[in-house]
Amino acid sequence: MVKLPPHLSVQNQHLMIGGCDTVKLAFTYGTPLYVTDETRIRDNYREWISALSAHYPLVRILYAAKANGNLNILKILAMEGAGADVFSAGELHLALLAGMKPEHLLFNGSSKTEADHRLAVSKGVRVSLDSLDELAMLDQIAEEAGKVAEVSFRVNPAIDVPTHPKIATGLATSKFGIPAAEITDAYAAALACKNVAPVGIHCHIGSQILDTEPFRREAEVMMELVDELFHMGVKFKFIDLGGGLGVKYEHSGSGPDAPTFAGYASSVLPVCKSVLARLGIQPEIWIEPGRSLVCDSTVLLSKVNSVKKAHKTFVNIDAGFNLLARPVMYDSYHEVLVANRADEAPDGTYTVTGPICETGDILAHDRQLPGVVAGDLVAILDTGAYGYSMASQYNGRGRCAEVLVRNGQAELMRRAETIDDLMATLKTPSWLQVNPE
Ligand code: LLP
Repeated sequence: MVKLPPHLSVQNQHLMIGGCDTVKLAFTYGTPLYVTDETRIRDNYREWISALSAHYPLVRILYAAKANGNLNILKILAMEGAGADVFSAGELHLALLAGMKPEHLLFNGSSKTEADHRLAVSKGVRVSLDSLDELAMLDQIAEEAGKVAEVSFRVNPAIDVPTHPKIATGLATSKFGIPAAEITDAYAAALACKNVAPVGIHCHIGSQILDTEPFRREAEVMMELVDELFHMGVKFKFIDLGGGLGVKYEHSGSGPDAPTFAGYASSVLPVCKSVLARLGIQPEIWIEPGRSLVCDSTVLLSKVNSVKKAHKTFVNIDAGFNLLARPVMYDSYHEVLVANRADEAPDGTYTVTGPICETGDILAHDRQLPGVVAGDLVAILDTGAYGYSMASQYNGRGRCAEVLVRNGQAELMRRAETIDDLMATLKTPSWLQVNPE
């Protein structure tokens, strides 16, 4: 049986989230439907802040906007005091629109354009540089604007992490960051620039990491560099350790547990604290969690169109990898429940498949579920991070709606896309325009 996380419950056989009945939500708003519990996001944020603050007074959370870029999610986190790690002009605009302060944002990315740098300079948003080419580009742009741009460099710490290879970002072979051995040269180059001021250092080793040890090693590498760079004259305002703490996806059987936020803080922050105390400086320490803030806040509701007994028993639902790409991209596991009979015992083994025209469109393999029939509602758990944000219109399917719930209230926070939305960006080259004559 699935052991539900505390913000989900079962009442009258129905799965409840944020005090709302998922069966009623599906009836009111249609399926597929992402449903997010606001309270859970706030609770996660507060737990993170108190875990970090117990070790160091100046901590800041820069929510990784890519995990879930809905403006309302950013607003909720802005209200809590968060800033954001933004990875594109779009994310930067959304974060500012949500009310986040420019000085609480960091514009990250390994392939930023001139327009990206110009936007950061004009909005007063700090930039994490990923190459010396970016340094030269930003120096030039800041000079043209008559400004000094505050920056960090992203470090590649060459740390192996126990996660899916596609989301390990701090390996020596990764495209991200500047090798630790070359970082002092990069900062020397930045210190020599007239219109750039290096005031921070940045790193991010990967995502869905279920062990705190790689984070501790990352902090050690970073603090060695901070020590060296401090003596070269860098005046640190922030040290950004990135995101990546994993979450528990398996709530049945014996899936791995995730470290607690307090466990992360107590293995990482003392490493920073002792070096900073020795140097006599007190910059802010930033982290950039995405998944651990929003993942468990959300369920994806999807209707069973048909059940087919073939090589396996296939449960054909109305959401596929167009809406939740993770199982197909990373072989990831998401718990699946039958939301309208959530406390019924399993009666067999089912494979949950989407409507996309690809054999690989499988969201859950060989799951024990109660006798599923057409018309049932399934809930796919822990879909708040990299769910909607990675959704596409593949196979001519508009993306679905998103609903926000809070203490029994529910409202749309994004409507579903229509056929008109699918057509909205199309243009017809002149030679394909049908001549009425
Ligand atoms: N900071 C930077 C610079 C990042 O690139 C990322 C994630 C984060 C922070 C947040 O990491 P988190 O705390 O969420 O692990 N689509 C993949 C995950 C890609 C992560 C990309 N970068 C997935 O669905 O598992």
